[in-house]
Amino acid sequence: MIVFYFTIVAISVSLLLPSAEAAVKKYQFDVVVKNVSRLCHAKPIVTVNGRYPGPTVYAREGDRVIINVTNHAQYNMSIHWHGVKQLRNGWADGPAYITQCPIQSGNSYSYDFNITGQRGTLWWHAHILWLRATVHGALVIMPPLGVPYPFPWWNADVESIENQGNTLGLPPNMSDAHTINGKPGPLFPCSQDKHTYALEVEWGKTYLLRIVNAALNDELFFAIAGHNMTVVEIDAVYCKPFTTDALLIAPGQTTNVIVRANRAPGRYFMATRPFMDAPVPVDNKTATAILQYKGVPTTILPLLPRLPTPNDTDFAGAYLDKLRSLNTPQFPANVPLTVDRRLFYTIGLGMNPCASCVNGTRLTASLNNITFVMPTIGLLQAHYFGIKGVFRLDFPDKPVTAFNYTGAPLTANLGTSKGTRLSKVAFNSTVELVLQDTNLLTVESHPFHLHGYNFFVVGRGIGNFDPAKDPAKFNLVDPPERNTVGVPTGGWTAIRFRADNPGVWFMHCHLELHTTWGLKMAFVVDNGDGPEQSVLPPPKDLPLC
Ligand SMILES: *[C@@H]1O[C@H](CO)[C@@H](O)[C@H](O)[C@H]1NC(C)=O
Ligand SMILES: *[C@@H]1O[C@H](CO)[C@@H](O)[C@H](O)[C@H]1NC(C)=O
Ligand SMILES: *[C@@H]1O[C@H](CO)[C@@H](O)[C@H](O)[C@H]1NC(C)=O
Ligand SMILES: *[C@@H]1O[C@H](CO)[C@@H](O)[C@H](O)[C@H]1NC(C)=O
Ligand SMILES: *[C@@H]1O[C@H](CO)[C@@H](O)[C@H](O)[C@H]1NC(C)=O
Ligand SMILES: *[C@@H]1O[C@H](CO)[C@@H](O)[C@H](O)[C@H]1NC(C)=O
Ligand SMILES: *[C@@H]1O[C@H](CO)[C@@H](O)[C@H](O)[C@H]1NC(C)=O
Ligand SMILES: *[C@@H]1O[C@H](CO)[C@@H](O)[C@H](O)[C@H]1NC(C)=O
Ligand SMILES: *[C@@H]1O[C@H](CO)[C@@H](O)[C@H](O)[C@H]1NC(C)=O
Ligand SMILES: *[C@@H]1O[C@H](CO)[C@@H](O)[C@H](O)[C@H]1NC(C)=O
Ligand SMILES: *[C@@H]1O[C@H](CO)[C@@H](O)[C@H](O)[C@H]1NC(C)=O
Ligand SMILES: *[C@@H]1O[C@H](CO)[C@@H](O)[C@H](O)[C@H]1NC(C)=O
Repeated sequence: MIVFYFTIVAISVSLLLPSAEAAVKKYQFDVVVKNVSRLCHAKPIVTVNGRYPGPTVYAREGDRVIINVTNHAQYNMSIHWHGVKQLRNGWADGPAYITQCPIQSGNSYSYDFNITGQRGTLWWHAHILWLRATVHGALVIMPPLGVPYPFPWWNADVESIENQGNTLGLPPNMSDAHTINGKPGPLFPCSQDKHTYALEVEWGKTYLLRIVNAALNDELFFAIAGHNMTVVEIDAVYCKPFTTDALLIAPGQTTNVIVRANRAPGRYFMATRPFMDAPVPVDNKTATAILQYKGVPTTILPLLPRLPTPNDTDFAGAYLDKLRSLNTPQFPANVPLTVDRRLFYTIGLGMNPCASCVNGTRLTASLNNITFVMPTIGLLQAHYFGIKGVFRLDFPDKPVTAFNYTGAPLTANLGTSKGTRLSKVAFNSTVELVLQDTNLLTVESHPFHLHGYNFFVVGRGIGNFDPAKDPAKFNLVDPPERNTVGVPTGGWTAIRFRADNPGVWFMHCHLELHTTWGLKMAFVVDNGDGPEQSVLPPPKDLPLC
């Protein structure tokens, strides 16, 4: 019933070197179909510039980035710059039918945006259909030239050295394999050597690994045999450094870690496998890559790391508890301390009637019991130009009917209501949103991504959120700041943000399957008083529907 597509962790590597400055970074992305071979079969996949993963975009904080995307494939598509705040500039955000119509086959669109107040690793991916399976890559933001990193042992300027290889990938649905930089590793058939990603390191050097979970449907554990990792940044925000032997990363999230090549020179496996603590089937096979010390023969068999078991809820909870904002004078955590608007959204799976389906029903998903219906023109255009009849602004602030959200499984009356319903938020107001998992059909963990903003993850718990007791336990001092957060299986997550970015901003589960089923909505954030607090005019080449 549930098809699991293969998933990817993309890794790029940086060495400590100086580099030249440039204020405008221009890229040409040609979306092309390319035949590739993996796991003993060849198949066409959609790529950017014929590469999988796609090219890494490099910029410094303060740079302007212009990426001209030309679509040579047969699919209409658009690209989302995942985590880039896009101040007043939703036109460059990318989700199809939310901020733009897709780029039609044969056409181009230039994404033009500034990088402000962000540094670290973000990424980009197609934001339509399931094309992001192969259309994705890293977006690396370095600090302005001469600005040091805030960690004493990491104070040189970093120049990122692209180390992805021009490898080609694995077609969706050909096999359930996870990959690291497009390669599943030697534990899979036909995957020796050229289908294994090897990262060569020199003994005594320190490396920064930028890890992106580009998986369609799985939260992942990641570990390196024999080597601890120091986590220094998540979702392009510095965090309080901590050392760990494994990390957890949800689809959409990024994590930067420091790794010291100071162990016995040899070959060590880097490995990734899903975390799943709900009764939902997953592809639990392990994808591997190799950390290879320079000069060590490639005939030596690498050691496997010890990954947490797939259902290790305790490891996941303990890991998430360690994530804290850096919160220094230079990098403060500006957590909203007061709340203008309290929102409580339930996450539900369901079943709606479907005449053409085998059983007469179709699986669906909803927020506050509303299954989102995609419009046929971009919501931002409809908002900006005042086009009527495209969406309603009556998304409820809380469920219409309260129930025991995480009690016994609810399997009766799984119907949902459908609509393109958005929530209107006043400019610069502070918002608290509690995302509550439910046991409609089954509990499950859901990674939620909000476009246009970073938010602070102020609280998390198992069971039903208790508005009387739980807020007292919120971390309002140094909570992690991110753009994607996992809602725990059968639990809740509370986030806060200041709505200072006007526009139409998508929020959705980053499990592609659930997005497809309707687990999504959007916020319409009003303009403020002046032109500097208002949505910019659309660019001339904005695609038409
Ligand atoms: C891919 O291979 C198929 C069969 O070998 C061929 O028909 C097709 O033209 C190729 N496509 C591309 C984009 O090379
Ligand atoms: C984008 O690329 C297309 C195809 O090469 C080209 O025709 C178009 O002028 C480019 N647009 C910009 C703004 O550079
Ligand atoms: C692409 O969009 C155009 C215009 O909306 C539409 O006519 C066409 O059918 C779409 N193509 C595909 C493959 O969906
Ligand atoms: C980017 O920054 C430049 C210079 O500050 C400004 O002129 C331009 O309007 C900004 N563009 C966007 C899309 O915000
Ligand atoms: C996906 O795999 C299933 C099972 O092998 C197969 O029936 C189906 O045709 C495949 N779909 C595509 C799009 O390749
Ligand atoms: C990794 O860290 C743990 C504790 O955090 C420590 O016990 C272990 O020795 C470290 N391993 C290595 C290889 O440094
Ligand atoms: C992975 O799944 C298979 C089949 O569901 C199961 O037999 C195996 O024990 C699982 N492996 C782990 C490590 O949980
Ligand atoms: C985790 O999975 C293992 C193997 O399937 C099982 O024995 C164990 O009871 C599970 N643990 C929890 C906490 O569910
Ligand atoms: C459809 O019905 C069959 C037979 O009753 C059942 O095995 C299957 O799980 C059902 N599928 C769904 C999607 O409910
Ligand atoms: C909710 O359901 C759980 C599990 O069935 C039960 O333990 C709990 O008492 C219920 N809560 C309420 C308020 O009914
Ligand atoms: C969701 O809405 C449907 C259709 O209005 C209704 O039948 C169902 O009871 C609602 N479910 C919940 C959990 O509120
Ligand atoms: C938003 O509100 C904060 C707190 O009141 C204020 O400091 C800030 O200047 C406001 N921002 C804008 C753009 O109005």
